[in-house]
Amino acid sequence: MQHDTIAVVDFGGQYAHLIATKLRLQNIHAEIRQPEDPIEAFTSCKGIILSGSPALSSHGEDSEYNKAIYDLDIPILGFCFGHQEIAKHYGGTVVNDKQEWGRAHLHILIDHPLMKGLGKVEQVWMSHNDTVSSLGPDFEELGYTALDQGEDKHRYAAIVSDKHKRYGFQYHPEVDDTIHGDEMIRNFAYEICGCKPSWTLENFLDEEIEKIRKLVGDESVFLLASGGVDSTVAARVLGEALGPERLHLLHVDNGLMRKNESEQVLESFHKMGLGENLHFIDATDDFLSALSGLVEPEEKRHAIGKTFVDVFEKEARKLGMETHLLGQGTIYPDTIETGGTKRADTIKTHHNRVPIIEEMIAAGKVVEPLAELYKTEVRNVGLSLDIPEEMIWRHPFPGPGLGVRLLCSDGEPIPAEELNPLQTGIDKALADYPFSGTALPLKSVGVKADLRTYEHPVLLEGHHLDGSKELDWRHLEKAAGLIYKMVPGINRCICNLAPQMPQSFAPRAGSVTKERLDLLREADNFVMEGLKRHNLYQKVWQCPTVIVPLTVDGNEGEFCIIRPIETERAMSAVASHLPGTLLAELTESILALPGIVGLAYDITTKPPGTIEWE
Ligand code: XMP
Repeated sequence: MQHDTIAVVDFGGQYAHLIATKLRLQNIHAEIRQPEDPIEAFTSCKGIILSGSPALSSHGEDSEYNKAIYDLDIPILGFCFGHQEIAKHYGGTVVNDKQEWGRAHLHILIDHPLMKGLGKVEQVWMSHNDTVSSLGPDFEELGYTALDQGEDKHRYAAIVSDKHKRYGFQYHPEVDDTIHGDEMIRNFAYEICGCKPSWTLENFLDEEIEKIRKLVGDESVFLLASGGVDSTVAARVLGEALGPERLHLLHVDNGLMRKNESEQVLESFHKMGLGENLHFIDATDDFLSALSGLVEPEEKRHAIGKTFVDVFEKEARKLGMETHLLGQGTIYPDTIETGGTKRADTIKTHHNRVPIIEEMIAAGKVVEPLAELYKTEVRNVGLSLDIPEEMIWRHPFPGPGLGVRLLCSDGEPIPAEELNPLQTGIDKALADYPFSGTALPLKSVGVKADLRTYEHPVLLEGHHLDGSKELDWRHLEKAAGLIYKMVPGINRCICNLAPQMPQSFAPRAGSVTKERLDLLREADNFVMEGLKRHNLYQKVWQCPTVIVPLTVDGNEGEFCIIRPIETERAMSAVASHLPGTLLAELTESILALPGIVGLAYDITTKPPGTIEWE
């Protein structure tokens, strides 16, 4: 190995690649290793990081991996599951207790090089079921977290043994919501492992361009270009590698785009000089007929992904370009959420990772220059290639677009045995709060401890600060945290925006139709325009607007939810706090749309919710 390298052991889930990315951003070479890899795969590394794991539990039976790594005189740092494994290996205990989701405060107890440059209290990000409950003889408590006042402080959130060079963090420093997580990772690499810097984004681009040339050979690439940041940056990178004449762009209007979006996308491609080999097809009918009657979110995703390939192949045949490779702007979260690494759970199947595309990838027929990167890095590559800022800062929009944000239902009632215990739990959690919450008879996808969930949301009464239009974020978010902790089966909290708190809800049948999509397009357009009007478009990272078929207080129609979030890499997220004035404007305009029977604001962190609803 030429460079100082840190090996990241991938125990599954979302995070090993993110850890590697965070190391690279600190100019450190990082390589992913599998838990069963032979010891030779580790001996020349300067350090080892053990990732978290969704599927493995640390408190139960012995976990299987190559424990000979503990015989090496190389520093090892574990996150979440990795932290628990280290504690256990050196004589500590782990119990299934004291779960934490989302934000927590780490109280640092020792002046240690791992925490160099940090304060005494740091915001960290948690997503765990198991907890370290005691330490072995050579370990010290470096920091703890405590969610509630008066709670037993012994959540061993950070542990050290300088004697063994072993370290553990219960939280995820690799997640952007651990505010100084990058510094902690940097401290491990530089202060503990003694690494010297070597990796840069420029090197990465050069290597990527080489790889593209090798893979494509004398062929050309036909790139599916939605007009989003990823496919636009991919177009520029492919153009650099192959030259403009060997790159064709195909923009498909799948009928699931935002209001007037395809027109704007085509115009901006022309403005950027990418209009020469630009092809356009309106395939709305193909997508709507593939989605007809489907309700289940994963079935909808599969239908959309497959229709993209069908449309692409039909168009390629028409243009006599059958031998071209398929280009896609896939980024890393698309792969990981689809369960694309050895142990990751399928949170959702991204449109560019459906089985037929996986087969084409295996046959070497797909080129994806950004597949290793996250959105932030893609934006940085885009800026370095002089892509206009307005394009770089467009909100991310998923390939299946409004198809995922238009929730569908077969209208079957949810049994009282399912909802009643949730309601009892919610009432208990909110006993000391001046607002109520109702478990809704609908489900959406979320993620807890790296595993997909399909659970109910709670509608909280919209509680405002005294005498103001502003929502009382502190109390609402605290109550939400308590509900996730106390009520299994809830993965989101949303807050009522309508003038009255609705009293009754009943599921209603609804599938993907042009009429429903048009209504969603209107509501979404109000939200996008509102963010721009209030100069919040860039501060808010993404803002899905969602509709759900529901009967609310006897009115049959669509319940609408807005979900403004802030994040950096979409692996974790917090709700944006939109100002009361904007909320009042949105409430008035959205509730006036014919067919909308309720409006709420999603205040859920990720985890336990995902960014998108489906
Ligand atoms: P979640 O909802 O999983 O979303 O928190 C994380 C990010 O991924 C985007 N997303 C997609 N992007 N194709 C895409 O190109 C997809 O199928 C897809 N599904 C989710 C989502 O919008 C968010 O930015």
